[in-house]
Amino acid sequence: MAEAPAFSTVPDAPRSDDPVLVPRLRAGLAAAGFTVDRVTDLVGPEAMAAWSRDQAVPARRALQRRGGQDPALSTLAAFFLLGDPVRASALDAALPTVGSRGLRRLGLVETVTVNATPILEDAGSSQEPRDPAGARDPERAQGPESSPGPARAPVGAGHREGPQDPLLRAAMDLRPYATDSSEELWVASDLGAFQRPGVLRRDHVLGIGGASTTLVQATPRRPVATALDLGTGCGIQTFHLLAHAEHVTATDISERALATTRFNLLLNAPALGIDPQHLDARVSLEIGSMLGPVAGRGFDMVVSNPPFVITPRSERETDAERFTYRDGGLPGDRIVRDLLGAIPSVLNPGGTAHLLANWEIPRDPEDEPSLTWSRGPDSWIPRDTGAWLIQRELQDPCEYAETWLQDASQQRDPEGFDRAYAAYLDDFASRDVAAIGFGMVWLHRPEAGHENDGPGQEAPAAASSPTVAGADRALPQDAAVPRIFETVPHPIQQPIAPTLAAEWERILRMARQTTPPGAGAVSPDGEPAWLDHHYTVAPDVTEERHGAPGAEDPALILLRQGAGLRRTVILSSEAAGFVGVCDGELGARQILAALGALLGWEGGPGQQLLGEIEGLITHGFLLVV
Ligand SMILES: C[S@@+](CC[C@H](N)C(=O)[O-])C[C@H]1O[C@@H](n2cnc3c(N)ncnc32)[C@H](O)[C@@H]1O
Repeated sequence: MAEAPAFSTVPDAPRSDDPVLVPRLRAGLAAAGFTVDRVTDLVGPEAMAAWSRDQAVPARRALQRRGGQDPALSTLAAFFLLGDPVRASALDAALPTVGSRGLRRLGLVETVTVNATPILEDAGSSQEPRDPAGARDPERAQGPESSPGPARAPVGAGHREGPQDPLLRAAMDLRPYATDSSEELWVASDLGAFQRPGVLRRDHVLGIGGASTTLVQATPRRPVATALDLGTGCGIQTFHLLAHAEHVTATDISERALATTRFNLLLNAPALGIDPQHLDARVSLEIGSMLGPVAGRGFDMVVSNPPFVITPRSERETDAERFTYRDGGLPGDRIVRDLLGAIPSVLNPGGTAHLLANWEIPRDPEDEPSLTWSRGPDSWIPRDTGAWLIQRELQDPCEYAETWLQDASQQRDPEGFDRAYAAYLDDFASRDVAAIGFGMVWLHRPEAGHENDGPGQEAPAAASSPTVAGADRALPQDAAVPRIFETVPHPIQQPIAPTLAAEWERILRMARQTTPPGAGAVSPDGEPAWLDHHYTVAPDVTEERHGAPGAEDPALILLRQGAGLRRTVILSSEAAGFVGVCDGELGARQILAALGALLGWEGGPGQQLLGEIEGLITHGFLLVV
């Protein structure tokens, strides 16, 4: 007998070894209208919004009221999205060519082993039924932490009572997923905290969450030959990579995650451009830790939402106790340090990496964490690698502990919660951590000629620095390897990747065009090339002037971006004067000359003003005409 393909039959995970059932499921889901729009129409936008906050009550009530309008869709929504019990007959009716047996064969169903009172047939009732024991199929029990909980009203009218029509529950979450740029997909993952009782299983296969989509939106979609999705989970990053990468290597330490990704890839094969018979032609699934499976190989793009969550370590812990979806098993922020140090080694020249990460910020008696956060990441990234880190959030150790304990529903075990909270505080105290930063990482391996010197190498002698308005720090670097560390805590435009990609290009261009230090004045020799251009103010930019009432001159002039990273910069009055004249008519050099005549400069504009203007151009406040 032929061997089943790798990860097609992993215990307790969806099976993808049935070439008939998987496409039937796809066709059945489409025929039932199990799409984001149709589900939204059925339950209403408010219930959908509540549901995205992991609150299922409004959607459940809507299904109880309106489910009769579309029984097949309601059955699928109640079963796969809410995790509610459903009669086998209702599933058979909703997916006639697959049926409850087919779903069981695919590993998507488990039996509820006790009687629950079916009340959904009692349409209009919004009472929540309680299942006296709430037990699940013991074969699929989700680990020792699984505890009894309420079984909800089964969906499906006209069922056959008794053992011939058992009450079933989803073994996996299966949801429609749509973005502006992709066809509608269906994505399986483990049931989340609001769909099942108890603490999450330790080998939880993460579904599409806020962090997943943040990374999706921060990843530039340029065509590449090879891409790596490190820590693929349910495969979300890979689905998007397939739209612009010829081949994707998806890795994970978890067999269940790879099995789930394989199932999702085959379920969505036509939309993803995959030939189910030749999955390897587009995607390789590889098991292993971090860069282990791909050591020595090169990729044009690396994408990773790694298991970066800092977790207190204990001597007695075992691998099985780790929440693998978020914890890489190393102390502190070690996993991020190691990755930022090593990822450039698997980037082809010109390649880029896009990650989410967090970093510990050691206490400094002199400075606030908001000012010192970049020291760690800056020292971990090899000197010959361009880097742009955008810190989006800063938490103190207590906030961090609460966030991640609640993320795994650990508050459902109050004693364990208190112990784990204390362990977090001890752990951070042991390294004198003042705060923890979270953000987006963009790495760029320059084209040939800038070989990888490895982490910790001295920076090349300062050549020029792209001075970046609004950035916390722009290190003087080789022009091809700018390093920018920026704090952007406010909401940004999404998807942000096009803005980031355009800006990174400008940063590289400006860095190449800027003269060596000392060229503060506009002189005939060695002038910044940007001086030769004409500029207009970007359409999303507005100016604000603040001052005491009646004052002739403003005390503060701000320039705000309405789009992209939505930065705000404080302008000097000279820079404000420059920007005010930028309507494309006069070139930068002419404007500066006019300003100089007006303000009586001796020796041309100063370095600070040139740096300010350069930053405005780099960051898209001013556009080249
Ligand atoms: C935060 S999830 C990201 C899932 C998905 N890529 C996303 O964007 O939502 C991290 C993934 O890394 C995997 N993982 C955990 N430890 C790992 C390791 N040492 N090496 C590789 N992957 C690991 C987990 O199984 C999990 O699927």
